[in-house]
Amino acid sequence: MNEGKTNSYEVITEGKAKLLVYKLESYKVKGSYVPALTPVFYNPIMRSNRDIMIAFLRTTLQRTTKELKYGETMTGVGVRCIRVLLETNTKPICEINDVNREAIKLAEKNLDINGVRDGVKTSCVDARVFSLMHLAPKNRFDYLDLDPFGSPAEFIESALLSVKHGGYVGITATDTATLFGNNPTKTLLKYGVIADRLQFNKEFGVRALIASIVLTASKQEIGIRPVLAYSEKHYVRVYAKVLRGKKYAKESMLNLGFILHNVQENSWKTIRMEDVIRNNWEKDRNHKVIGPIWTSEYIDNELVKKMYINSFELSQESVEMILKIMNEKSGIVGYYDTDLTSKLLNVSSRKIQKLVDKIKERGYVATRTLYNPKGIKTDMPYYEFIKVYSELS
Ligand SMILES: C[S@@+](CC[C@H](N)C(=O)[O-])C[C@H]1O[C@@H](n2cnc3c(N)ncnc32)[C@H](O)[C@@H]1O
Repeated sequence: MNEGKTNSYEVITEGKAKLLVYKLESYKVKGSYVPALTPVFYNPIMRSNRDIMIAFLRTTLQRTTKELKYGETMTGVGVRCIRVLLETNTKPICEINDVNREAIKLAEKNLDINGVRDGVKTSCVDARVFSLMHLAPKNRFDYLDLDPFGSPAEFIESALLSVKHGGYVGITATDTATLFGNNPTKTLLKYGVIADRLQFNKEFGVRALIASIVLTASKQEIGIRPVLAYSEKHYVRVYAKVLRGKKYAKESMLNLGFILHNVQENSWKTIRMEDVIRNNWEKDRNHKVIGPIWTSEYIDNELVKKMYINSFELSQESVEMILKIMNEKSGIVGYYDTDLTSKLLNVSSRKIQKLVDKIKERGYVATRTLYNPKGIKTDMPYYEFIKVYSELS
């Protein structure tokens, strides 16, 4: 149960923002702070998520003569908006919302404390209503943030409708067990994706969430181009460009595909949507069909390089994450978990770098992955990987 709940506040600092939040110490269960118990949600562990958003907006929201519009469907204590106003030089017009009246009161107080209240519009309605209030072209956002506690699934369609052609959405999901395929029925119901236990479950979750956004967008003749997606801690985060029109919806759809999972061998093949449409694929009886997932690149590495340059004054943790994302080869679907391979072969674990070099010697691509320090991303088939693994001492 909640240990020692009190209604007292404290002032904390995050980036350049000073924030009045409910005293974190007062909302602990078995020694761990549980933000969901507080009257207004603020999670200090998500600072790196917000820092990365600041680097993203410093890079993508360019200052031009036209007005830039920033929106937040679920603002909590208002931290993201305040940081955007204090830490990016674009000074967009901001509209923030939360269904919790307490949250909006506290966010307004925090805007005052930081001297950025002027011109920020606040509202207290359901996130879907907020988004749909911005349906008209002149009201749409250049950037809209969707940051729920749990799944974003039910809010995605309205969110996409409120973004300009060429604008961006930033979407968080914290229902990682569902996205990573721990309960395939839930994954199917929430995201329309068939899941399975895979060696690369975190990356699968990222690709499944993107696929679900694409499927939702397509109904509205909207295409999305993911430019940065990753998973860390207890969440998945996707940043995507929103492009309006049938041709973009089709382009996005054709970047989806399926995984043929050989459950016995724990290996897989990827087939693209076009191959399925043309019936240009073969399945053997050991294969389970998994998906749809996003099968193309989902990280614009050049953009992330610029984000790295723009990561001044952000936390060390977020800068390290940006570097990891920058080096991720998102064009290759999946990674081999070397711990699993050691177990399978009943051998000791191999040095990752030695393995990477050996695979490269054989003419394949091989890199580490941000999802697993013991993982290797490569286009080498699994049977060959196992051979190389067993040959290495
Ligand atoms: C994870 S918190 C947001 C955290 C905030 N974006 C941040 O970075 O600190 C989720 C917020 O969504 C609000 N919320 C929950 N359901 C909502 C809904 N249907 N519409 C709008 N807000 C909602 C909650 O009151 C809570 O403040």
